[in-house]
Amino acid sequence: DKAGHKHFMAKEIAEQPVVVAEAIRSYLPTGGDRVVLPDTDLDFTKLDRLTMVACGTAFYACLTAKYWFEQLAKMPVEVDIASEFRYREPPISDRTAALFVSQSGETADTLAALRYCEGKADKIVSVINVPESSIARESDIALPIHAGVEIGVASTKAFTCQLSVLLMLALKAAADRGTLTDEELADHTAALRGLPTVLNAALDQDRAIRKSAQRLSEARDVLFLGRGLMYPLAMEGALKLKEISYIHAEGYASGELKHGPIALIDKHMPVVVMAPRDAVFDKTVSNMQEVMARKGKVILVSDDDGIAEAEDGVWSTIRMPHVHTSLAPILYSVPAQLLAYHTAVAKGTDVDQPRNLAKSVTVE
Ligand code: M6R
Repeated sequence: DKAGHKHFMAKEIAEQPVVVAEAIRSYLPTGGDRVVLPDTDLDFTKLDRLTMVACGTAFYACLTAKYWFEQLAKMPVEVDIASEFRYREPPISDRTAALFVSQSGETADTLAALRYCEGKADKIVSVINVPESSIARESDIALPIHAGVEIGVASTKAFTCQLSVLLMLALKAAADRGTLTDEELADHTAALRGLPTVLNAALDQDRAIRKSAQRLSEARDVLFLGRGLMYPLAMEGALKLKEISYIHAEGYASGELKHGPIALIDKHMPVVVMAPRDAVFDKTVSNMQEVMARKGKVILVSDDDGIAEAEDGVWSTIRMPHVHTSLAPILYSVPAQLLAYHTAVAKGTDVDQPRNLAKSVTVE
């Protein structure tokens, strides 16, 4: 049932304020500022590092979480693609927790990577959407993301729920390890509780996003740029676009522009810049100006302050509400998803069943 939407993907994008609220409620009991896990057996003070493994969109959720764990909990994190990890056979110390992220819980490479870690890692933890799945069953601790059934092949609400749960896990690690003050923890939890409201405000930008998407649908290639927490999201935005619109897209760290991709920029190249007005904003803006100096067409996704400061010369802007810096990748997922969605609709592709793709990749 598409609940009045044209596609499951549109319905699932629209559901995010509700499912993310559910995910937050289940790990952050009302009244408290401490994250509570369904299984209390995960003690971050006993761990030296985290190894995170996943595929596709779930891999980008892990890359985002690396920034959170390192910044908030001062915990070293390794992230790998499951198909690489399993055959590389990396050494795993017994002070490592191995964490597997998978919507379906059935992805063959991720499951094989999990089995490789059995008997090596201190704990096998999974972040999954399907509690009965193989990955959930074979983990010591399975953390559900509460996204509900996801039908669209392009993952949307599972991604924002994965991010929400991973951020809460990083906050739990920070609390265990004493790396954030009570005030900082309270700040984060208050922002998390406000997340559904800002997600709704992001969804309200649908019309502006559709306009930008109309323009994107004419492009042959699109570049997505982001820095820091926005870098994994740039890659996720590019993946969404290529999956459903079949437009070639790449996500790059803004600082890498000069090291190669700038050679691609000309008047035919749209560049989506994900840049809330945060500590690295000025750096991203200077990369954006390098794009415009070469006639690249910039779509700037930012907040009021960022747009006021940097909108000169851009092709179009997408305005996001203000949000706590840590939460920006969750919020900015909405414009990334809607850009891909409306571009695909403008091109007339099969949004929910894109060619050559399966919802769950159970063979290698
Ligand atoms: O079920 P999983 O989360 O393990 O799936 C991983 C990838 O196959 C999945 O995220 C894929 O990249 C999606 N089509 C992305 O939209």
